[in-house]
Amino acid sequence: MRSPAEAFDAIERTMWDGRAQAYAASFARLCAYPVGALLDAAEVTAGTYVLDAGTGTGTAAMAARRRGARVRAVDADAGMVAAARAGGVDARVAALPELPFADGEFDAVVANFVLNHVGRPRAALAELRRVLRPGGRLVLTLWSARRGAGQDLLVRACEAGGAVPPAGLPRRDPAEDFARTPEGLAELLEEAAFTAVESTELEWDHRATVEEWWGGAAAGVATIGLVVTSQEPETVVRIRQEYERLSGEFADGGGRLALPHVALLAHARA
Ligand SMILES: C[S@@+](CC[C@H](N)C(=O)[O-])C[C@H]1O[C@@H](n2cnc3c(N)ncnc32)[C@H](O)[C@@H]1O
Repeated sequence: MRSPAEAFDAIERTMWDGRAQAYAASFARLCAYPVGALLDAAEVTAGTYVLDAGTGTGTAAMAARRRGARVRAVDADAGMVAAARAGGVDARVAALPELPFADGEFDAVVANFVLNHVGRPRAALAELRRVLRPGGRLVLTLWSARRGAGQDLLVRACEAGGAVPPAGLPRRDPAEDFARTPEGLAELLEEAAFTAVESTELEWDHRATVEEWWGGAAAGVATIGLVVTSQEPETVVRIRQEYERLSGEFADGGGRLALPHVALLAHARA
């Protein structure tokens, strides 16, 4: 019998499997927005030894390399690792909360939109602290409980199109959960024995075409992708129609959508 955290992680594994290219073409651009702030907060400069945990297609790792950092990366999904490696990243398959690195190895660890995909966030943070040298920097981003209107566009389209919530959505064990607020994330980091904790919200408008924003979900990327791709074909047609109708609210006047998003960014020292 699986624990709730193991069940959560198992769904996460299937959710990303085979979706690296679709992710790269859609949500990876969204998740790229905070990478500059993430690396600044991690004090990544030439020679910094950095781990990008949950690297995906390698956005943060590649940006750190461009700063002259020495970069290692892991991801739980083999397709993501292959995509990151194709971009020149020294990446390998590993799943939090277990990392194949020695104690105190890294100057900095970054995890961009990863902690929200991990079944045991406290155990994951303990492991991220283990691989940091004393005084090393941890920087995290994840989606905030306070959502931007752009984050709900596809959700609203699903509701209006009559989508039926699928049985296999990832559900976090309440005992493992934490408040997705600056205060909640800061408390979690302090509980994990990090010091100099600071946590804040980032807000931005993600720009994407109607097709690009639809493409990630239609290809099954992330939770919204699970919802869309588990519907009957006629329901998907209705969701798409509703999506096109609701997209008008976000037209930026230049042929794209301006989609407001809110995320948390926290940094701390080991
Ligand atoms: C939203 S994506 C973010 C990817 C990347 N950090 C970026 O900025 O584009 C989440 C990533 O976390 C990875 N992931 C999920 N659970 C994980 C775990 N337990 N350990 C490591 N990676 C994990 C997924 O495979 C996926 O690549």
